[in-house]
Amino acid sequence: MTIWFPMAFITFEGIDGSGKSSLLKNFDLHLKNLGFAVEMTREPGGSELGRELRTILLKNSKTPPCAEAELLLYEADRAQHVATLIKPWLEKKTWVLSDRFMDSSLAFQGAGRKIPFEKVRWLNEFATQGLLPTLTVIVDCPIEVSMARRAKRESEASTKPDRFENEVAPFHQAVRDEYLKMAKTHSRFYVLDGTKSQSTMLEDLIQECQRRKIL
Ligand code: TMP
Repeated sequence: MTIWFPMAFITFEGIDGSGKSSLLKNFDLHLKNLGFAVEMTREPGGSELGRELRTILLKNSKTPPCAEAELLLYEADRAQHVATLIKPWLEKKTWVLSDRFMDSSLAFQGAGRKIPFEKVRWLNEFATQGLLPTLTVIVDCPIEVSMARRAKRESEASTKPDRFENEVAPFHQAVRDEYLKMAKTHSRFYVLDGTKSQSTMLEDLIQECQRRKIL
């Protein structure tokens, strides 16, 4: 039997290699085991249009999009994601867990690419139609830890770093610093220590959801 309530829109943020995607999958499993209806999605690439945009955004190219075009492509992905998937799911009282959302644009295009934050905020608001997550989990870890994890993952899976993973350390540091800064500005943020084990992080997240009466 599917239980339709409670439900929430939870987003997972962090630098590449922070462990947020594994945590999201573990949390999804936990909620499904409780019998909740849950949709797991991501940005970029949650929608069909988004999957095409993801390829364009992440591929290493000799002629990559300029910072402004890059931001607009992320926002196009987000607009389609919210309008065609996230809003309809929430209307059906389904839990929605998204691997990245609007805060990624503030961290990567704002702090990383140095696009003025007010411009990113305006576009975020436009693309999301004002929709805010119930809770945003920032999985935080030092960039040395994330870089070592990514190197291990790439050697195990014989994959190459994408366009963002190829960015220099100061870029990733600026992104991390911005996440930590934004966490202090709004009660919807919850920072988790990404150097902890996945099982400890899952326990911490469940407790936090209970504390906030989401679960
Ligand atoms: P992922 O590897 O977590 O799936 O994310 C893809 C990359 O896209 C990641 O390096 C972060 C980047 N990104 C942005 O730069 N801006 C955004 O708005 C989003 C959603 C992702």
